[in-house]
Amino acid sequence: MNTRCGELKNDEYIGKYVSVKGWIHRIRKQKENTFLLIRDDRGEIIQCIIDSSKTNNITIESSVEVFGLIQKDSRAPEGGYELKADKIHIFNISKNDYPIGEYQSLDLLLEKRHLAVRTRRMTMVSKIRSSILHFSRKWFTDNDWLEITAPVLVKGAVEGGSTLFNLKYFDEEAYLSQSAQLYLEAMIFSLGQVWSMTPSFRAEKSRTVRHLTEFLHLEAEAPWVTLEDLLKFQEELISFIIYNVLKSNRKEFEFLKRNVSELEKISPPFNRITYEKAIDKLQNAEFKIVDDDSSRKIEYGDDLNIESERLLTINSPKPLFVIGYPLKIKPFYVKEDISLPGIGIAADLLAPNGFGEITSGGLREDDLHKLEKRIMLEGLEQSNYDWYLDLRRYGSVPHGGFGLGIERLMRWILNFTDIKDTVPFPRTIRRIYP
Ligand code: 4AD
Repeated sequence: MNTRCGELKNDEYIGKYVSVKGWIHRIRKQKENTFLLIRDDRGEIIQCIIDSSKTNNITIESSVEVFGLIQKDSRAPEGGYELKADKIHIFNISKNDYPIGEYQSLDLLLEKRHLAVRTRRMTMVSKIRSSILHFSRKWFTDNDWLEITAPVLVKGAVEGGSTLFNLKYFDEEAYLSQSAQLYLEAMIFSLGQVWSMTPSFRAEKSRTVRHLTEFLHLEAEAPWVTLEDLLKFQEELISFIIYNVLKSNRKEFEFLKRNVSELEKISPPFNRITYEKAIDKLQNAEFKIVDDDSSRKIEYGDDLNIESERLLTINSPKPLFVIGYPLKIKPFYVKEDISLPGIGIAADLLAPNGFGEITSGGLREDDLHKLEKRIMLEGLEQSNYDWYLDLRRYGSVPHGGFGLGIERLMRWILNFTDIKDTVPFPRTIRRIYP
């Protein structure tokens, strides 16, 4: 019988002869007996006691199968169960210069990420990530949305030219996609409410704790919706993910010492503020925009940055929607509110306690001529958007959607400072290896 360490730590197994496959996590040699901590393929560990003569050349990270009886010993770590082994099979003796130890510099952990993903901390994060993806998908499936896939090689910018990754596509110029949105918009005409989970790419020139150059983007788009509908979808989706992930990953959150009491209270409705009120609030707090060497008071028309977003949510345990941004700080596709000229029907969601923006969405401009004008004003090459404009030429409908950055959501849920910690192989301005 081969079982995982986590399952073996159960009274049912006491006195049973079992085997467990895994890697040597720690070794403590004594004259007669050796204590091995075996780590299984889900980051669970069990202490194994074995005759020292059978473990002569064993090293950290060697891969093994150990056979023996499960017994209780209160001194055994993480649960008080241990495996009294009589046999060990070695798959591979690890080279004895395994570079990842208990205390490691952050740079080394990134340089050796292919090995660092084995640390128990990263295993716990990866398990939570897997659950987040699972419950995201489940919410959409349960609520009658259809999943689509969108291309990653594209001809046009969605979120502005300054963060495009260029590439040579045979004889043409092309880019890595910044967002699947335009393709989702094309699909609502045949599938109704649709969603996708695709990598998005941003050539972010600055190094920050919340920007990756490649991130996982969960995006949704639906016909005949209002902004209110879109806010509700996001409230329900995010609350559903958090509720279920907390329920199924309690052990992982405990390991990471994440106090989840505030997350347990996340439920609809979220807080709301208009962009205009948010600027008033920031002005009243004397918030300053710092550009290079100078600084000035924030003004209506400025985009919100990480510091202003932090200030808006610093003592708030609830996410906050900022609604109604000026069109000039939003992309070309945002629909103008005809009752408030110059204002877009768009909202960003800020995570609580200063974690900043995690989603962005709103209604899309569905009028052909207004959209053409906006594309021109933004200096975009109209021919690259001709197919997109067809969506307004042939049966245009009011519609809208949103995009959520999975790593941004995780950063908040895990209470991590650096977004790089939420993903096994982060891509940043400085890192594309391993
Ligand atoms: O605000 P953004 O740029 O909006 C869009 O891309 C829309 N087209 C989405 C849509 O409506 N379908 O990005 C959406 C979200 C952000 O709120 C953030 O969570 C995440 O994507 N995001 C990033 N995450 C990590 N690193 C980056 N560089 C990110 N840029 C955006």
